Amino acid sequence: MRILLMGKDGQVGAEFARLRLPGAQLIAAGRKECDLRQEPSIRALVRNIGPDAIVNAAAYTAVDLAEREPELCFSVNAEAPRVLAEEAAALGAALIHYSTDYVFNGEKREPYVESDPTAPLSVYGASKAAGERAIAATGAAALILRTSWVYGARGKNFLLTMLRLAREREELRVVDDQVGAPTSAAAIAQATARLLAGIGAGSIRAGETAGVYHMTAAGATSWCGFARAILEKRGGEKSGGAPATRITPISTAEYPAPARRPANSRLCNDKFERAFGFRLAPWPQQLEEVLETV
Ligand SMILES: NC(=O)c1ccc[n+]([C@@H]2O[C@H](COP(=O)([O-])OP(=O)(O)OC[C@H]3O[C@@H](n4cnc5c(N)ncnc54)[C@H](OP(=O)(O)O)[C@@H]3O)[C@@H](O)[C@H]2O)c1
Repeated sequence: MRILLMGKDGQVGAEFARLRLPGAQLIAAGRKECDLRQEPSIRALVRNIGPDAIVNAAAYTAVDLAEREPELCFSVNAEAPRVLAEEAAALGAALIHYSTDYVFNGEKREPYVESDPTAPLSVYGASKAAGERAIAATGAAALILRTSWVYGARGKNFLLTMLRLAREREELRVVDDQVGAPTSAAAIAQATARLLAGIGAGSIRAGETAGVYHMTAAGATSWCGFARAILEKRGGEKSGGAPATRITPISTAEYPAPARRPANSRLCNDKFERAFGFRLAPWPQQLEEVLETV
């Protein structure tokens, strides 16, 4: 199986590129190989490679900046996925694409299911929802995996920010009224490889499993709860004996940001488990695994 990976330098893309994929040939592309704002460049790359499956881990993910750059954000998150999906459909290749909890407004009390209506609060969320619709409209055999609160040992993310701030400050004020599932980039990459290996690109192509799925770590916490867990698990010798950083819960209103975020980001993973027979590990376990590599 030939797999074309887009976004090889991002959090999820870099983790996917590191995996051993028995029986598969991986062609990994980053911004240098293909600028997703350039439609001809996307089409040329896909036609040149002729993959059996495309994994699109590339995205415009600067959620706050997107409020000021809506055109760029939509170009990468909605237009480029449409083009990838058109090319996949023309080739008969499978497409695995990632989306986000930010397609919802967070007003639901329960975890969101795939059939819940989207109602994004931000430009980023709207662009990702538009990307989902654009892919579906092409009729490509695509798996759209919505995940949440992605972090890892590399890249720009909440985990690394908290570890840095904890070294610099005595107190961290962290939002406690947004709830979701922190999901490691490594877990997402491993699950993607398992999907490709287990079901084979063939059954995605045949449309048996195509559709939208929620795929997050099991369990949920707030950003504040996540920060506490990071510093607790990180404690001991790695803190260098410094006095423990105090974590103070604050509300979203106390931490104004350009983009609005959903209060409830919890995604129900039942459909994913029914279709594919596994769940991602609970978020505290994923956190421990990532911290071993930081
Ligand atoms: N991060 C989260 O918290 C989160 C939450 C839910 C869902 N997701 C989704 O999960 C997926 C993976 O996210 P991630 O956190 O791994 O993203 P990431 O670390 O921000 O990586 C995205 C990659 O896309 C590339 N990219 C952006 N614009 C491009 C362009 N015009 N041409 C070519 N490449 C471009 C970036 O390239 P450069 O490195 O050159 O900038 C980067 O390598 C995305 O679909 C995202 O929407 C993320």
